[in-house]
Amino acid sequence: MNQESGIWGIIGGTGLTALDGLEIGAAEEVDTPWGAPSGPLQHGRYAGKPVVFMARHGNPHRIPPHEINYRANLRAMRDAGVSRIIAVNAVGSINDAMSPASLVLPDQLVDYTWGRPQTFFEGNLEATTHIDFTWPYSASLRRRLLEGASEAAIGLTDGGVYACTQGPRLETAAEIHRLERDGCDLVGMTGMPEAVLARELGVDYVSLCLVVNWAAGKTENEITLDEIHANLEAGIGRVHALLETCLG
Ligand code: HPA
Repeated sequence: MNQESGIWGIIGGTGLTALDGLEIGAAEEVDTPWGAPSGPLQHGRYAGKPVVFMARHGNPHRIPPHEINYRANLRAMRDAGVSRIIAVNAVGSINDAMSPASLVLPDQLVDYTWGRPQTFFEGNLEATTHIDFTWPYSASLRRRLLEGASEAAIGLTDGGVYACTQGPRLETAAEIHRLERDGCDLVGMTGMPEAVLARELGVDYVSLCLVVNWAAGKTENEITLDEIHANLEAGIGRVHALLETCLG
């Protein structure tokens, strides 16, 4: 991997069902051997570069994390010529140093999801395949984002462990304590199996995380949608600016 060329793909999560600044070309309805993706592929140009955009939860936002057809989304993007993906994820923070509205570029993950199709390698195979997943995110894409952040003077924390939970409910305080003991810094519901499916397809992939709340039990308060929306609003401009710098 380590591809310095090819079409960019952006997967938008909560708060990023559309891409500000995307010059929209065609919206292409596609089908895949794994079923239908979350919505049409949006072809366009962003910062002068061709991009393919996919709203992970559909647009409007309607597909919960455990019902997303991750295989179809990834396969559709790969078939459209995408070779590198920046996935944007809204997350809760377990680590005191990663405060709400800040951006984090994780370098590891722990998968706590269950019952989600995790692989393209199933069915009538000629041989079993065990892909390497030691480092789940692309090193070259991570470098590119870190350089872009530094160039544009956008704060971006380098590294962290992303815990992917099943959802759609948020966690209990005890579950967050357990994740903390497991070494996790961030918690979200959509990072897996997206990352591993990209790896299986040979597509470079990074997750750009926007912290939208302190995880359950990290403060005395319960988590509210108002708080999540306020932090999304506070941070999404920096997500757009960073994407623009990195793609340009
Ligand atoms: N937990 C899981 N997923 C999330 C959270 C959270 O606290 N915030 C945003 N996505």
